[in-house]
Amino acid sequence: MNAPASTQRRFSTAYRYLFVAGLGLVIGVVATVMISRAIQARQDPFPDSLMHVMQRQVALLSDAQAQNRCSLADSVPRLQTLRSLSNDMDIAFPDMRDNAQFQQHASGLRATLNTALASPPTDCVAMGKLVEKIKADCQACHQDFR
Ligand code: HEC
Repeated sequence: MNAPASTQRRFSTAYRYLFVAGLGLVIGVVATVMISRAIQARQDPFPDSLMHVMQRQVALLSDAQAQNRCSLADSVPRLQTLRSLSNDMDIAFPDMRDNAQFQQHASGLRATLNTALASPPTDCVAMGKLVEKIKADCQACHQDFR
């Protein structure tokens, strides 16, 4: 038994609408991905990358302390990496080169790291305090500039 011709026509019309709607959706998704890629490509990834690497170094330092791994071998390499990375803040944020407050925050972090490297923590209590001090230096700048 065949369905009446009018039902068949309605069915194929609905199918066509569905197909066009589906096609529109696919084109929309592809266009969105292309546009967001283009926007991303125009942004300099360096500032966020620098921050994320510093973040990971602080997290590794903090994890080591939480696990009672507080020897010089645990802390000094992280502190050296953080100290080196903190030199590139001006390259990452060139607009901030002449901003006195930004420079003060950046040099505050460098000073904390200099002091820590001059006499690195030798136990977990000292290392815990140092992690907190570093985090406070990060926070201080973020409060004003992020
Ligand atoms: C002298 C200023 C300054 C200091 C010090 C500083 N930051 Fe930042 N940080 C910024 C600014 C400005 C941004 C916003 C960057 C942006 O959105 O492009 C930022 C953003 C971030 C972000 C987010 C990045 C993203 O993808 O949005 C992380 C994570 C971060 N900082 C971690 C740290 C850590 C960890 C420290 C300390 C070791 C630190 N920052 C010290 C200025 C600073």
